[in-house]
Amino acid sequence: MSELTDQLEAAGQQRLAASVQALSGEVQNRLAMQCAALDLPLVTRLVQTMVRDRQPDAQHGEIRPAVVDRLADHPDGRAEARAVGEQALRDNRVAVVLLAGGQGTRLGFDAPKGMFPIGPVTMHSLFAIHAAGVGATRRDYGCDLPFWLMTSPGNDADTVAFFEKHAMFGLDPRTVGTFVQGTLPAVDPATGDILRAAPDQLALSPDGHGGIFRAMGHAAVLGDLEERGIDVIMTMQVDNPLMRPADPELIGAHLMAQAEMSTLVVAKTSPEERMGVMATVGGRTALVEYTDLPKQLEEARDADGGLTYWAGSTGVHCLDRSFAMRIASGQIDLPFHRAEKKVATVDDSDPQAPNAIKFEAFMFDALPLAARTATVEMARAERFAPVKNAEGPDSPDTCRAAMCARAGRWLAANGVTVPDGAVVEIDPRFAQDPADLHGRVPTDLVIDGPVYFPPPA
Ligand code: UTP
Repeated sequence: MSELTDQLEAAGQQRLAASVQALSGEVQNRLAMQCAALDLPLVTRLVQTMVRDRQPDAQHGEIRPAVVDRLADHPDGRAEARAVGEQALRDNRVAVVLLAGGQGTRLGFDAPKGMFPIGPVTMHSLFAIHAAGVGATRRDYGCDLPFWLMTSPGNDADTVAFFEKHAMFGLDPRTVGTFVQGTLPAVDPATGDILRAAPDQLALSPDGHGGIFRAMGHAAVLGDLEERGIDVIMTMQVDNPLMRPADPELIGAHLMAQAEMSTLVVAKTSPEERMGVMATVGGRTALVEYTDLPKQLEEARDADGGLTYWAGSTGVHCLDRSFAMRIASGQIDLPFHRAEKKVATVDDSDPQAPNAIKFEAFMFDALPLAARTATVEMARAERFAPVKNAEGPDSPDTCRAAMCARAGRWLAANGVTVPDGAVVEIDPRFAQDPADLHGRVPTDLVIDGPVYFPPPA
């Protein structure tokens, strides 16, 4: 115990050291175990540089529009990319990681976000839909396609139990894995002191989706992928059921560009849409968050009237495995961001005001660090309908409407008459693409109520 308190004191955390010393028995043990698990050198560096001795934020380099591979507009480019991606799948070069460690605060759902029932007809969960897409891709390309989920300490047990309860959604249990992302403590904005959520508990929260690199390194996921000869890791967010796991076009575009990291973008719907845009900043590919994009750039339009900064990031990326390994090993340093947040703490006086600084790393910060990147556009209505909020934009209602509209378009493209507003759900194991429906749905099908196309028996 005294070794631990010495370490805390040496790290400038006298207050926490005193709290540990003031406790006894089991309560003291629990707090001490959490303190011992901290990455103290990292926490000390963050507190020093981002709280106690904070320098003004570095200026952005000049922001310019991104160079985008507009696959959405080029059928030939799409076909070529698709062929390359399909071959990579058949050659077992691809793995999928689902980012599912977030807290889902805006949705306010009392369980991991992936358990949210989203299927417009079936109420299948987000997890079920993603797992079905993985299963369909394995079947169609005869590939292993390892499927990993990144969870966080607060939702890992529930996530694992949900997959087990649903018999891994039909996937072989040996081919689905979870790894838990790291956490970082919230600190006092004035003093940099580490905060406690309860007498025996630090105020810990997930270290951001950028934590994926360290977490994949710690859990030996990257080593496992290397042994299997996998060199493309596609990462996708749990809250977007329109995204196709291991999308062959995206993987093909990433490989054709010989990129270390690629980003899937879709057109923003309005200048004000709260979506990070892809740009070049100081000559490097980067994501500019909507809060950081100057108003005149947000509203800037090209000669054809379209938004100059239209390329909204979907948060879907392809990573070259060795690039991910260089970040995981610390050879390439990912920056951290500070956010002023309201955090429940043991000695909280004002339950409303932001009372803490949280530190988070973001995946997209790896983009400017990559030797080569690709920014790939696909049609928004085909690939992007996230569930972020309980109501309004990006909510379950808008997401289900987008799922039905896409299913309706795929059926219409195959000769079926689809009434406006039809409630239609296509299981990814039935079709992942309009072409998969070819010859499999009767053109005289009458849709006069909710319809679900289930996986083939
Ligand atoms: P968001 O930034 O939308 O966060 O995450 P969120 O936790 O889902 O929701 P809010 O902001 O609290 O309302 C985008 C994706 O990144 C994952 C999320 O699970 C989601 O798939 N994520 C986010 C992580 O895996 N870890 C994190 O620390 C943060």
